Amino acid sequence: MVKKRTCVFISGKGSNLKNLIRKSRDYSFPIQIKLVISNNKEAFGIKYAKKNSIPFFLINTQSRYYENKIFNILKKHKITFICLAGYMKIVSKRFISKFNKKIINIHPSLLPKFKGLNTYEKVLKSEEIKTGCTVHFVNDKLDDGKIVAQKSFFIEKNDTEETLKKKTQNLEYSAFPEAIIKIFRNN
Ligand code: GRF
Repeated sequence: MVKKRTCVFISGKGSNLKNLIRKSRDYSFPIQIKLVISNNKEAFGIKYAKKNSIPFFLINTQSRYYENKIFNILKKHKITFICLAGYMKIVSKRFISKFNKKIINIHPSLLPKFKGLNTYEKVLKSEEIKTGCTVHFVNDKLDDGKIVAQKSFFIEKNDTEETLKKKTQNLEYSAFPEAIIKIFRNN
């Protein structure tokens, strides 16, 4: 099977990156992580790229044409699929149209509920009985594209932002790979 050459974009801890690297070792998993891009030089997740000898690039998003740089790097590494995994920058319309339907993102809520930042705080303050995570295609609106997979759990009385985060992220580690399998199942 020819695996899709994939780049994972990160900004922080990189636990989803770590999980995708592990999953991509399965011979039947449809993608292989060939590149990691981080906009944060302190991102802990860079460690997983290094450890697994995956090329990684640090991007300075203050520089004017940084997305052109990203685009050139992706081209050089023949990347055909992108996973945003805790990448804290907005991707431009132009970039998205170049990679049309080939960028997915993972978000820690049951979209369309609780888009944007501070998700766990918003969930706790809400009257929701359930929360979870969503994997979706990226379009030009924030946390908005077509949903590929969702997983949920019931919120308990004594949940805190920390416990919600832990439970949500545990679901992410199965939702992200399952969404990727679903996308490429018929390809
Ligand atoms: C995940 O919870 C994801 O939903 C959100 O950012 C977090 C990234 O975590 N978009 P990690 O860097 O993969 O550990």
